[in-house]
Amino acid sequence: MIENNTGVSHSGNTVPLQSVLETERLIMRRWEDSDAEDMYKYACDPDVGPIAGWPAHQSIDESRNIIKNVLNGKEAYAICLKKDGKAIGTIELKLNGHTDMTDRDDECELGYWLGKPFWGQGIMPEAVKEMLRHAFEDCGMQKVWCGYYEGNNKSKRVQEKCGFKYQWTTEGVDVPLMHEKRTGHVNLMTKEDWEQINTFG
Ligand SMILES: CC(C)(COP(=O)(O)OP(=O)(O)OC[C@H]1O[C@@H](n2cnc3c(N)ncnc32)[C@H](O)[C@@H]1OP(=O)(O)O)[C@@H](O)C(=O)NCCC(=O)NCCS
Repeated sequence: MIENNTGVSHSGNTVPLQSVLETERLIMRRWEDSDAEDMYKYACDPDVGPIAGWPAHQSIDESRNIIKNVLNGKEAYAICLKKDGKAIGTIELKLNGHTDMTDRDDECELGYWLGKPFWGQGIMPEAVKEMLRHAFEDCGMQKVWCGYYEGNNKSKRVQEKCGFKYQWTTEGVDVPLMHEKRTGHVNLMTKEDWEQINTFG
């Protein structure tokens, strides 16, 4: 973690305090209204949202609305490339009250997506590893849950590479934004497992 936001966004609105996180190639910081165009560039791709459970964005205004009303949680971050500062994806810890995977304050659900031009470079595993550190070290989490729908092998691989452990599979999971049911797989990273990975590699 490199700094904290002051609590005032570029537009002058008061927002919850949020960390800014850094990795070798990435900065993760609050989504801003001015990122809407960059978000739309990637979120309009039908290969990005639907597999994660949400429809492709139809307009820059829709992306702006998602930034304002959906990605406004304290632990929702824009993933930005250090080299140009542009937002290329999202990573979020969904806290108690915003996830159906737990009803505990010391557990949360990890969610993420990345613009297609950036796939296959290990960017999401890099972001996830820092977000896990943040969850356990800064936010006091004991467990981080993470799921994917049947067939999303790219997301399955990210979770495997980061050390998540398989828990269970549920058939007929409601995917409300897509008006359909799917098979969902659930993985878990405990604080103990995370500490072990980071001690022994
Ligand atoms: C899942 C996702 C975040 C992976 O991010 P990433 O930074 O590309 O992750 P990685 O580079 O580690 O690649 C993960 C796997 O994706 C596959 N992959 C990589 N590049 C690919 C490409 N261009 N096309 C198809 N598959 C690709 C590979 O199987 C890779 O696994 P490997 O390292 O064992 O070969 C990204 O594909 C994405 O945003 N997908 C759509 C949204 C989504 O699924 N979100 C998660 C919902 S649970």
